[in-house]
Amino acid sequence: MLTEANGSVAAVPAAMPSPLDRRIALAHTPTPLEPMPRLGARLRMAEGALWVKRDDATGLAGGGNKARKLEYLCADAIAQGCDTLVTGGGRQSNHVRMTAAAANRLGLACTIVVSSDKPSVPTGNVVLDELLGPDIVWAGRLDYYGAEAAIEETAARLRAEGRRPYAMPVGGATGTGALGYVRAAQELQAQDPEVELVVVADGSGGTHAGLVAGLGDHGHVLGVDVGTRPDLDEQVPAKAAEVAKLAGLPDPVGACAIDHDHFGADYGAPTDECLEALRLAAECEGLILDPVYTGKAMVGLIAAVREGRVARDTRTVFLHTGGMPALFAATYASWVVR
Ligand SMILES: Cc1ncc(COP(=O)(O)O)c(C=O)c1O
Repeated sequence: MLTEANGSVAAVPAAMPSPLDRRIALAHTPTPLEPMPRLGARLRMAEGALWVKRDDATGLAGGGNKARKLEYLCADAIAQGCDTLVTGGGRQSNHVRMTAAAANRLGLACTIVVSSDKPSVPTGNVVLDELLGPDIVWAGRLDYYGAEAAIEETAARLRAEGRRPYAMPVGGATGTGALGYVRAAQELQAQDPEVELVVVADGSGGTHAGLVAGLGDHGHVLGVDVGTRPDLDEQVPAKAAEVAKLAGLPDPVGACAIDHDHFGADYGAPTDECLEALRLAAECEGLILDPVYTGKAMVGLIAAVREGRVARDTRTVFLHTGGMPALFAATYASWVVR
């Protein structure tokens, strides 16, 4: 309340709630920002130039980037009166695992659509999925668009059965989900206002889009395509503009930067350069990367530094988005340990 000069009382306009406040806390944040001096030296980067933001340590059922997106998606689901989270992904999807965990934390039901046949022996994320206990639809091998359609079909079936499903696309890549990375960008800037570049794995592209919206400039983010979807070059800028608007921030400036050269033959393909990146991070920093996302993102970072596309004194943050359970999937375990 304000008292005016004439003694009358004026109402204080209520502060507008920020869209970034419409979340349910699921992640351990702020996540640590750690230096990587030994890996930086191996890449001949300047002292103090290379850092890692540990979003693998968000804590939800093993951690990873999806915890931040799920904070906003679950708040939206509950606000809409939904009772069942529905999403999908590949057999080793981290998003699927973490969605099942978030549903359990919040007392919601969960149905996941896995674009694969049921494996005879569960390994990696599938072990955790089964432990978390969502309804699993084994949909057989589907491409990206087939997986999106199967999620929608499953939500429609549940709706016809009288449930109130909240359908999330692969990777939780809606503007609402990407708000989680607007918040992460602000958290990072508070930890280190000098950050010049964030390097991130691009699956659905939602994490990249949220970071760009939060940092305000495409030039601050280098995405490394892991082969999930073919339309990242259009999706990331469109989603970045959408999420900036949702967050009440200006339209991001600059040109979107995505490196498409390192996923190998297909999504999840084991490559020699990915194994080199996994070994380098483990040997230099005791940092465990995953074979599908962060290993490929590290390949992109190494290539950009070695080829001079990123100057060796650029203050660079590698965003560790999690994914370690996939290392324990049979295919990857026998590829790492030969
Ligand atoms: C470990 C990990 N890193 C990165 C990503 C990519 O995130 P986004 O889908 O937001 O591009 C994913 C997506 O599933 C992931 O599981």
